[in-house]
Amino acid sequence: MMLGKGSESKGGIAMPDQNPFLAGSFAPVEEEITAFGLPVTGTLPPDLNGCYLRNGPNPMGLEDPGARWGDGHWFLGSGMVHGVRLRDGRAEWYRNRWVRSRQVSTALGEKWPGGPTHDDADFAANTHIIRHAGRVLATVEAGPLPYQLTDDLATVGPYDFDGKLPGGYAAHTKLDRRTGELHAIAYYWAWDYVQHIVVDGAGRLSRTANIPAPDGPMMHDFALTDRYVVLFDLPVTFSMDAVAAGRKLPYTWNAAHQARVGLLPRAGQHPGQPGAVRWFEVEPCWVFHTLNAYDDGDRVVVDLVRYGAPYDVSTLDGKGPLTLERWTIDPGRGTVSPRGLDDRAQEFPRVDDRIVGQPHRYGSSAVIGEVSRGTMSLSGDFADGAFANALLKHDLAAGTNEAHEFGRDATAGEAVFAPASAGAGEDDGYVLAFIHNPDRGAADLVVLAAQDFTGEPVARVHLPARIPLGFHGSWMPDE
Ligand SMILES: [Fe+2]
Repeated sequence: MMLGKGSESKGGIAMPDQNPFLAGSFAPVEEEITAFGLPVTGTLPPDLNGCYLRNGPNPMGLEDPGARWGDGHWFLGSGMVHGVRLRDGRAEWYRNRWVRSRQVSTALGEKWPGGPTHDDADFAANTHIIRHAGRVLATVEAGPLPYQLTDDLATVGPYDFDGKLPGGYAAHTKLDRRTGELHAIAYYWAWDYVQHIVVDGAGRLSRTANIPAPDGPMMHDFALTDRYVVLFDLPVTFSMDAVAAGRKLPYTWNAAHQARVGLLPRAGQHPGQPGAVRWFEVEPCWVFHTLNAYDDGDRVVVDLVRYGAPYDVSTLDGKGPLTLERWTIDPGRGTVSPRGLDDRAQEFPRVDDRIVGQPHRYGSSAVIGEVSRGTMSLSGDFADGAFANALLKHDLAAGTNEAHEFGRDATAGEAVFAPASAGAGEDDGYVLAFIHNPDRGAADLVVLAAQDFTGEPVARVHLPARIPLGFHGSWMPDE
C-alpha cells in the first residue's frame, strides 16, 4: 500500500506532513486486514450476535492529485469501514475495507464496480454505515450517493434506491422503528432547498420533498419525533469565496444567515410537497449532531451537542464552548429554550437506536481530546485532560452522568448501544466502542455493561491493527 510522497523517516518513525489529520490518532492505516478468531479479555456476552461496523476517513493520497490527502480536511478522506463480527461469545472476525469509489478502485488496481452517480460526485462514502431493509449502506452528505457493501464489507457499488433518489443522500438518517420509515435530509451546494427523503420499511424510496433553504446551508444531522422532522438551518453555508480560496469543503460561517430550527410535520406530506415548515429563530451557533428528540405534549424536546458561534467547517475552526444541551421548542409560544445538560467538550451523542424519535432517558457521548482539538480549533488548548478520552453515559431523567475514562493515550471513539436482546429495555445492554490500546499499539473493541458503566469492561476484543479516529457506526444484530 502506498505511503504519502511527503513522508519522511526519522529514526525509523514515519513523519507525516504537518497536516494533523495524518498524524497520531488520525493517521490512516495502510493495509486491509482480515483476521479470524480474535483474542478476547473478559467474556463476550453469548447473546451478542451481530456485527459492529464503523466508518471513517482513511485518505489514500489520491483524493485530489493537486492537493494530496484530500485537501488535508479530515472530512474528505476516502471512507474505510472497520467491522467486528460477534457470535456465540466469540469474536469471529475483524475486517477493514476501503469503500470502492472509482478513484479508490483505480488506486488499488481494481475494476470499479460501477453504478450511478449524482452530478458526477462519486466519493468513497466515509461518514456513517447503516443497515436498512437488509441493505448495508456507507453514507456521506453534500452530493454523492451512498455505497452498498456486503456483510463482509466488500463494495457492491453506489446505490440510488433503484433510480428513485433525485440527488445525493445524507450521512445521518433516522429510523422510526414503529413505522419502519428511514428519514434523511440531503443538501447540495447547487440547490436552493434541502431535500427530505423517506424510505419505507421494505427499502423503497417512498417520497421526497424539497424545503426552500437560502444560502446553501450545511445540514449534517437532524432529528425526528412522532410528529415532526426537526431541521437545523444554521449559519454554516456554502461559500464561493471559500471555493475561490481553494477550499475543498467550502462551508464557512455566514453571520448574515439567520440561525433557525424548523419543524416539518410528518403527517400529510405528499410527494414533492413539504407542507408547512414552521421556523423558529435561535441564537447563532453550530450543531453537528443531535442525541435524540421527542414530542412532549405540544412541545418538542431535542438534545444535541452545540458549538458556540462562530464555526467554520471549511477550516474546522471554532472557539466553543462545545456542550450538551436540551432545546425545548414550543410552537404555541414560538420559542426555543436551551438548557445546559453537560459542559464537558463532547461529541458523537447517541441514543439507543430503537427509541429514536421517542422519549429517551439515557444517552452516550464521547470525550475525545484529539477530536475536540481537531474540530474546534487546530491551535485550541484543551488543558483539562481529566476527561481527555472517556465515554459518557447521561441519565437525563436523574440529571446525572458517569464517565468511563480510558487514559490520555487510549483514544476513544463513538459509543453505540447494543441491547441485551431484542426485547430488552432502554438501558439493558452493552455499549460498544473502538478504543485505542496504547500497550499494543492497536485498537480494542471495548464492551461495557450499560448498567455498570464505570466498571471493568465485560470484554475487550483485541484487534490486529490500529483504527484511525473516525466517525459513526452501527450495531447490526443478527435478524
Ligand atoms: Fe456526524
